[in-house]
Amino acid sequence: MIIQMADRLQKVPEYYFSRKLRELRDRIAQGEDILNLGIGSPDLEPPVDFKKQLIAQVAEPGLHAYQPYKGIPALREAFADFYSRMYGVSLNPETEIQPLMGSKEGIMHISMAFLNPGDQVLVPDPGYLTYGSVSELVGAEVISYNLLADKQWEPDWEQLNSLKLEKVKLMWVSYPNMPTGATGSPELFQKLIAFARKHKILLVNDNPYSLIRSQQPASILHQADAREVAIELNSMSKSHHIAGWRVGVVVGDAAYIHAILQIKSNMDSGMARPLQEAAAHILKQDFQWHIEQNEIYESRFELAKQIMSSLNCSFDPNQTGMFLWAKIPADASDSAAFSDEILNETQLFLTPGFIFGKNGEGYLRLSLCSPIHHLELALSRVKAFADRRPLLSPSLSIQEA
Ligand SMILES: Cc1ncc(COP(=O)(O)O)c(C=O)c1O
Repeated sequence: MIIQMADRLQKVPEYYFSRKLRELRDRIAQGEDILNLGIGSPDLEPPVDFKKQLIAQVAEPGLHAYQPYKGIPALREAFADFYSRMYGVSLNPETEIQPLMGSKEGIMHISMAFLNPGDQVLVPDPGYLTYGSVSELVGAEVISYNLLADKQWEPDWEQLNSLKLEKVKLMWVSYPNMPTGATGSPELFQKLIAFARKHKILLVNDNPYSLIRSQQPASILHQADAREVAIELNSMSKSHHIAGWRVGVVVGDAAYIHAILQIKSNMDSGMARPLQEAAAHILKQDFQWHIEQNEIYESRFELAKQIMSSLNCSFDPNQTGMFLWAKIPADASDSAAFSDEILNETQLFLTPGFIFGKNGEGYLRLSLCSPIHHLELALSRVKAFADRRPLLSPSLSIQEA
C-alpha cells in the first residue's frame, strides 16, 4: 500500500462475524464438520411467489435502467399496506417510506443525516454492534446505556436519567430485542417516547424481528405521538427470508425521511427493479404464511432449549425472535472461552455474548436458522461433550419456567 489508511479505520475493527466466519470457513476447508449456529441468516425459503415474480420480471424488456432514488411506487405502497395490516400504522407511501438495501445501510444513512462530529448517541448494551461502530465512523460520541437482565432487558432508567443529555441527539433502541429476545411492550415504547420528547432526542427503533415467533407484531409508530420523535427501521431479511437480496425500509415523519433520502441519493442508485417488484409482491403475503414459518421456528426453539440446557446454560423461555439467548454456567470462565471450548470440543459454533457489549458477557446466542436435523446433531454432540467433561454449575439468575 502506498498511502496511509484513513484515521477512521482506527475506530472500527473488522466486523466480528466477518473475521469469525473466515475462521470457520478455513476450518471447514481443513475437514472439520462445523455446525454454525451463530449467525441469523434465514435458511427457510421466501414465499414461492418471490422467485416466480423475480424470474418473470427479469424476463420483461426494458427493466435495466436506474430506478427512482426513493424506490418504485409499488414497493412503497406495499410497505404502506404491510405497516397498516401488521402494525395498524398508517403511512403515506409518497413521503413517509424510504426503501433501503437492507436495514443495516439505514443505520449509516440515519447517522449521517442527523449527527455532527461531537454529537452524542445513546447505544444499548447489549445491542447490535453496528449502532456503535457507525456512530464512531461519523465522528459522534457513543454513550452506552445498560439494558437490565432482571428487568426483561429494558433500559436502566436510573442510569439514563442520571446522564447529562444536552449533547445527545439520537437514541438507538431495538424491540423486539436482539440479542436478548426481550419483547418490549407498549408501556416501554411510551416511556421511551416521553424520554425522547423531554430531552429532544430522535428515537430510532430497529425492528427486523417483529414477525419472528411473535403473536403480536408491534411498531413504535403505533404509539400516540410517536411520529414527532421516533422513526423505525424494518427489514425483509428475517421476516420474508430474503437477507441476501437486501430489502429494508425506514419509515416515519416526512421531514425525517426526506433528510435520509438526501444522504442516500448521494450514495447509491437504488435496487434493481425486478427485486423491488418481487419484494412488493411478497409483502402482500397474509399473516398465515408468517404463522407457518413461526411453527417451524418454534420446533427449532424447542431443540435450542435442549442444547442450551445440556450445556447447563439457563434462559428465559418466553423470549421471542430468531435466537435463543442463554446465560453460561456460573463457573464457565467467560463467553468467548466457553464458545471456543464448545467449538473445539463439538464443532458447534455459538455466538459469544461479549460481542454485543459488556452486558452481553456471560451469555451465548444460538441462531434458529438451521434445519431440525442440524439442531438434532448439535444436541447429540453437546450431550456427548457434557458426558465427557465435569459438569459446570447452572447459572441461577434465569430460571426456566
Ligand atoms: C438488530 C439488527 N438490526 C439490523 C440488522 C440488519 O439487517 P438487514 O441489513 O439484513 O436488514 C440485523 C441483522 O442481523 C439485526 O440483528
